[in-house]
Amino acid sequence: MEWKDRFSATVRDRLEESAISVVMREAARQGALMLSAGEPMAELYPEKELRESFQKVLAEGRVNWGYTPHRRGVPDLLRWIVEWMGRDGLLPGWVTPGDLLVTNGSQEGMSLLSECLLDPGDRVMVESPSYPDALGVFRRDGVLLEGVDLLPDGPDVEAMERLLAEKKVKAFYTIPTYQNPTGFSTSDEKKERVLELARRHDFVIFEDDPYRNITFEEKPRGTYIRASGDDRRVIYMGSFSKVIAPGLRLGWMIAPSPVDMALEKLRIAGTLCLPDVIQYAVCDLAGAGGLQEHLAKVRPLYKANRDALAASLVKHAGPEGLEVDVPGGGFFIWGRIPWLKDAQAFAMEAIKNEKVAVVPGAHFYPEPGRGGDRIRFAFAAVKPDQAEEGALRLAKALRRYRAGRGGGK
Ligand SMILES: Cc1ncc(COP(=O)(O)O)c(C=O)c1O
Repeated sequence: MEWKDRFSATVRDRLEESAISVVMREAARQGALMLSAGEPMAELYPEKELRESFQKVLAEGRVNWGYTPHRRGVPDLLRWIVEWMGRDGLLPGWVTPGDLLVTNGSQEGMSLLSECLLDPGDRVMVESPSYPDALGVFRRDGVLLEGVDLLPDGPDVEAMERLLAEKKVKAFYTIPTYQNPTGFSTSDEKKERVLELARRHDFVIFEDDPYRNITFEEKPRGTYIRASGDDRRVIYMGSFSKVIAPGLRLGWMIAPSPVDMALEKLRIAGTLCLPDVIQYAVCDLAGAGGLQEHLAKVRPLYKANRDALAASLVKHAGPEGLEVDVPGGGFFIWGRIPWLKDAQAFAMEAIKNEKVAVVPGAHFYPEPGRGGDRIRFAFAAVKPDQAEEGALRLAKALRRYRAGRGGGK
């Protein structure tokens, strides 16, 4: 039986391997010290609390073992999310629990949105750089990506205007808080300017916001969805992956009617429904202040990781030419090495020779040929004592690479 000629055009022409997975797989195979993992530190999963919450909901017999009647999500959880986001001032007045749909992480949210609102040949504006697995969803669906440079306070609005003067775009995909990979956050003032453009050029905004609550700053920023108000042109995606655990596969999206109805139908066509048991357990854990308690515990630890990795990188790899942007939250530090031309080749050599893993920058750019001088570091799962060792290995790898073939001065 020969399978190779039977694949759909999607698989044949448009499906990509997740670039980050390739690096991570090689790093794991070689036992490298990971400065690359965009996931929570394993010790910080609230394992005991999760166990207790799962035991409680099972013992109480609340779980429905049939196909769930709660197609959009368990009502208690939807209500809790709306209360929580509302307390933080993140929602416009029109949002009720009925406007939410739980998802298998925000990744599924992106996939549903792309299916729901985009056709092959449509154009979507994306931050350049951006999260590769979101770009992969749009590419899978034959959508054309239009990159707009991301600056430390958000997208380059003038570049957006130039682009919009020439091309019709259907949507703007943005990660406004502690962006992946840069750690940059879009200021509230810039959000207003982008929304003004969205109204003028009639595009919608996909707001992907999984890092918002991993914050080391005093004053939280607002959301696009709140700033858009009754205009209702923003679809918001949230996730429990970074604040509790990605293995739960639980996120949510907020979409105005009639998009919410279409998303619900797509969900049924795709997977029917999600498991109730996980939603009940997360609701039990998060409710009654449990999530705030957990966040209060993990934020200082992530901040210590950020401080340690940033300081070690500057100390050891700074002399090799590394420059870093240090974010106010999230999981990532974005690095630049002006003399480096091919970060992919460097990253593979660094894994092989010095057993240290970083993610090369090119994967994050929608435009081919950019990012050869960029590297993404993830501090979330790197403890302070590993940071020093990781930065030393990185500096050594840079010296070796530069001496070998590394692109001169
Ligand atoms: C910007 C961004 N969006 C979405 C995701 C996927 O998250 P989830 O586990 O909620 O699907 C990630 C994961 O790294 C991410 O960085």
